[in-house]
Amino acid sequence: MLKKISFTVNGIQVSLEVDVRESLLEVLRERLGYTGVKKGCGVGECGACTVLVDGTPIDSCIYLAVWADGKDIVTIEGIAKNGELSKVQKAFIEEGAIQCGFCTPGYVLTATAMVESGKKYTREEIKRELSGHLCRCTGYQNIIKAVEKALAD
Ligand code: FES
Ligand code: FES
Repeated sequence: MLKKISFTVNGIQVSLEVDVRESLLEVLRERLGYTGVKKGCGVGECGACTVLVDGTPIDSCIYLAVWADGKDIVTIEGIAKNGELSKVQKAFIEEGAIQCGFCTPGYVLTATAMVESGKKYTREEIKRELSGHLCRCTGYQNIIKAVEKALAD
């Protein structure tokens, strides 16, 4: 069954017809070209497909596109502003928190939501917030340092 939905992606209004079984990941990557949204496990375990929905990080592989109707979606392509990297992105570079980069968009989006919440996090709380993300290159220490740095700035 097809359903017409509308939402914004990185501030751009989008309207399209989707199959009610399509995931938001499929719609963003395959139909709208947001390839910064990565497909890892496809079952909500790795966090590679993370996007922000109304400011909250979600696994877009297990989030139906129809649920995004009327919502505000942010992908990694929407994080830099006017060609300037965000403080989270800069912190990842400064701390060497990127190896192959496959997991990076997801981490950056979750960290962005943490920064935007304005809350203070202990190291243990940072680890807990990031626990939905897997880095197959296992660069966890530098990723945690980068998030700590972004939260401290
Ligand atoms: S691809 Fe969505 S959580 Fe792994
Ligand atoms: S940097 Fe390679 S999966 Fe994390």
